[in-house]
Amino acid sequence: MDLAAKGHDVVAIDNYSRRNIAMQTSSEGLMSNPNLEQRAKIFKELSGHEITVKIGDLCNYKFLSEVVTEFKPDAIVHYAEQPSAPYSMKGYEEAHFTLKNNLEVTHNVIWAILEHAPDCHLVKLGTMGEYGTPNIDMEEGWLDIEHKGRKGRFLFPRQAGSLYHTTKVLDTDLLWFYVRTYNLRVTDLMQGPVYGLSTTESDLDDRLLPNFHYDDIFGTVVNRFLVQAVAGVPLTVYGKGGQIRGYLNLRDTLQCIDLACNNPAAKGELKIYNQLTETFTVNQLADKVQAAGKLLGIDVEVKSIPNPRKEPEEHYYNPIYTGLIDLGLEPNYMTEEVLGHMLKKILKYKSDIDNYKIFPRVSWSKNK
Ligand SMILES: NC(=O)c1ccc[n+]([C@@H]2O[C@H](COP(=O)([O-])OP(=O)(O)OC[C@H]3O[C@@H](n4cnc5c(N)ncnc54)[C@H](O)[C@@H]3O)[C@@H](O)[C@H]2O)c1
Repeated sequence: MDLAAKGHDVVAIDNYSRRNIAMQTSSEGLMSNPNLEQRAKIFKELSGHEITVKIGDLCNYKFLSEVVTEFKPDAIVHYAEQPSAPYSMKGYEEAHFTLKNNLEVTHNVIWAILEHAPDCHLVKLGTMGEYGTPNIDMEEGWLDIEHKGRKGRFLFPRQAGSLYHTTKVLDTDLLWFYVRTYNLRVTDLMQGPVYGLSTTESDLDDRLLPNFHYDDIFGTVVNRFLVQAVAGVPLTVYGKGGQIRGYLNLRDTLQCIDLACNNPAAKGELKIYNQLTETFTVNQLADKVQAAGKLLGIDVEVKSIPNPRKEPEEHYYNPIYTGLIDLGLEPNYMTEEVLGHMLKKILKYKSDIDNYKIFPRVSWSKNK
């Protein structure tokens, strides 16, 4: 919607994999979203902008080839992956699906560009989770190394903490192979966890809201904490709560996509940006939600629960994230006003909150 509103011709492709997994795992979002065709229709009625919708599986190369041949895109923004770390750790079937889906879609998108639109710029959503939590500063994708008197430039070392995040590492390796071998042009965006319930377009009508999950499978931590605050459930801090991550507002995700599309990589270039605007520990996030709740008269409790994940709970974390700012990103920070606005929106849907979805159901250790 954001790109269409900026005057681009947009085709949106989806196979409802996210919705299907949400249904299978009882992880539906707080607000029910109309389907993609209906959303495109509502958006057109309200804004005048048209989005072409194609429903199909990007693992089907023929389907993707036909869309790319017909549309001849200048850019493809590739979001289409199974993006839940807990889902990927649930068991064999879920792990296999995540690996197969994510790598196959990435490989198919690469080949559709090579065969049908060789000048097309691929903007790929990666994740900060690819790096893990190294004890050195996280550069933007690349690291200059001096070893036994010789120097070289390599992809920054990556050691992900879930199978999902590992598929993103493998995606980056695939992209780099095809960039250096076949002159593909790619921007890989190492994105941190996103939060938010408001964009210029979704503010037009609640039926255009982004999917908003608060369960352990699809909910990201800030969204989860805010719903827990409204539900009157103590915020579920995993373990010591010293885990640091880099966060960004949904509005900034959209800015970053726009900036990446308008500053394409050259042929044979893999650009990598760290896509975040600020870093917090989980404890700091809980404090922020508590403070925002207080302003609205909501009493928010915080409670540490056993950590279902295998991850350091106290660690060094210093990502570099100047690349997108240099391109013009103007961050929307996580202020009390922003969190308060989200809380007010969630309050409207309070009676739909299902407490069953709030507590972690998947453990990293259970399936070993
Ligand atoms: N949300 C975050 O906090 C976050 C953080 C870092 C990176 N990312 C990355 O950003 C991208 C989007 O994340 P999101 O949270 O919006 O996830 P999402 O699940 O809402 O979006 C991905 C979409 O891709 C679709 N999809 C998946 N496999 C497909 C296939 N084979 N064919 C067609 N469509 C398919 C899904 O149905 C879904 O609508 C993902 O690649 C994710 O890894 C997200």
